[in-house]
Amino acid sequence: MRDIKVISVGGSIIAPETLDIDFLRAFRTTITDYLKNDSDRKLILVCGGGSPARTYQRAFREITAELSERKERSEFDQAQDWIGIAATRLNAELIKHLFWEYCPVQVITDPSSISLFHGRVLLAAGWKPGRSTDYVAVLLAEKFQADTLINLSNIPKVYSADPKKNADAKPIDRISWKKFGELVGDAWIPGKNVPFDPVATEYAAKIHIEVIVAAGRDLENLNRILTDSSFEGTVIGPD
Ligand code: UTP
Repeated sequence: MRDIKVISVGGSIIAPETLDIDFLRAFRTTITDYLKNDSDRKLILVCGGGSPARTYQRAFREITAELSERKERSEFDQAQDWIGIAATRLNAELIKHLFWEYCPVQVITDPSSISLFHGRVLLAAGWKPGRSTDYVAVLLAEKFQADTLINLSNIPKVYSADPKKNADAKPIDRISWKKFGELVGDAWIPGKNVPFDPVATEYAAKIHIEVIVAAGRDLENLNRILTDSSFEGTVIGPD
C-alpha cells in the first residue's frame, strides 16, 4: 500500500548554530530503520535554512545598512530571501547525500515542476522569495497526496503565546488553522521564526491538510509519529 509522508526538517534542528552532526547521524539511522521495515514507505524531506540562513541574511542587512544607495524595501526583502533559499539548498544537498541509497534524484528546488517520485526519499529545499520551506512542504504533500505532514523544529508543541515572552503560555494538543493563523499573524518577515509560517498556514488551511508540529530532536517521538503510535506534539488541522 502506498505510504508517503512529508517531513519539514526545520533549519533550527539541522544547523542551530553550526551543523548538528550528532543529530544528523541519529536522524539518518531513524529514517533508514523506518524505511527498511516496510518497502512501501516513502518520505519527502524538506530542509530549512537554520543558522546559515540567518547569519548570511544578517550580514547582508548590516552591510547594506551602511550604504548610501538605497534599494526598494521589497528588493531588500527579496535579496534576503534568496540568501535564505541558498542556505536551505545547501542543507538539503547534504541530507540528500546522507540518504544516497534511497534518493536517486536531484534536490527539488521547484515543487511545481516535479510529478514523479523516483526512489524512496525525495529531498526538497527553498523555492522562491516570499515563501518558506513549510510552504514547499505543504505543496509537496498536496501533490503527492501524502497522508501526514510533520513539521520538525526546536519547539515540542504550539503554545497559546510565545513562551519566551509570556510565562502563562500553554501548550496546545490540537488547534484549527483559523486559530493558529491568529497566533502567527500574516506578515512575511525573512528569517522569521514561527512554528509554521503565515504563507504556508494560509495554503494549508485552504487545502484542509493536517500538520503535526513536534520537537525535531526527539527521534523516538518522530518514530512514533511515523508509525502511527501516540506522540507528543500539536496537530493543526481543519476546523
Ligand atoms: P526557512 O524559513 O524555510 O528555514 O527558510 P528555517 O527558518 O531555517 O526553518 P524553520 O523555521 O526552522 O522551520 C529560511 C529563509 O529562506 C527564505 C526565507 O527568507 C526564510 O526565512 N526562503 C526559504 C524563501 O524566501 N523561500 C523559500 O521557498 C524558502
